[in-house]
Amino acid sequence: MITSTLMSTDERSRERTQRQITEDADPVCRAQPPQDFHVAIIMDGNGRWAQRRRRPRRAGHVAGAAAVRRTVEAAPGLGITTLTLYAFSADNWRRPRAEVDHLMRLFQSHLRSECANCVDNGVRLSVIGRRDRLPGGLGDAIEAVELRTRQGTHLHLRIAIDYSARDALMTAAASMPASGPPSPDTFSTALARAMNAPPGTRDVDLLIRTGGERRLSDFLLWESAYAELLFTHKAWPDFTAQDLESAVREFSTRHRRFGGLPSPNHAGLGQSQVKGGRGP
Ligand code: FPP
Repeated sequence: MITSTLMSTDERSRERTQRQITEDADPVCRAQPPQDFHVAIIMDGNGRWAQRRRRPRRAGHVAGAAAVRRTVEAAPGLGITTLTLYAFSADNWRRPRAEVDHLMRLFQSHLRSECANCVDNGVRLSVIGRRDRLPGGLGDAIEAVELRTRQGTHLHLRIAIDYSARDALMTAAASMPASGPPSPDTFSTALARAMNAPPGTRDVDLLIRTGGERRLSDFLLWESAYAELLFTHKAWPDFTAQDLESAVREFSTRHRRFGGLPSPNHAGLGQSQVKGGRGP
């Protein structure tokens, strides 16, 4: 760095000491980075981002697609192995026809253009949600990208389109035999089937919502039972790799107990480390 070459030895040593003091005082710096975890993101604020720039809402969605790409590229380097992005809720059909059509075209072109990139980078791409109401071209693009990327092991990217957690929960519940309550594993498998998702995905560890609102909006209600929640005012199109990294650092400082007792090593705490119990 230019600044450090201009520093004297004394100045460099003072800077090193200062940096050490800062790191010692800041638990975020000392926390272990978590590994192998599931981040889910409610990508909100596209429309307001565009309106603030006096541009049509669709410009916000296009900028949002660029943020998707940045986020997917950054995720594996931060230890994220599953990333679920909320792109279109079952309630979003209520939006004006032109906006819905634009979003459907954007999803289709994004899936097609990113397919080779996903294959090259070991990304498995799945789309979760209903398929029967999607335009045929988008349905075809989903099937093609899921087939071509199914061997990816680096990152499981799940994009939620025409998704409603409540609908999926009701469909899964209706598919259960009447012989008694199912085990959580049996129910999770039925739930995955109900939303066209591959089974066996771990629960959400960190749920981020951009755009300033603080609600779950019918997203992954079962899977987020013990998710850490993080809300940011940043609009989705402004979300950067650095923002994702900050979110992961914040997550790594959270003490996750899953209703059990505190563990000495709390970073990225998984179910297997839980000492028992349910509750807050
Ligand atoms: C919410 O912001 C965003 C959406 C409903 C669409 C999300 C779509 C993208 C991020 C574009 C590309 C996605 C993929 C997967 C290629 P909003 O429009 O509700 O914003 P507002 O609350 O400011 O109006």
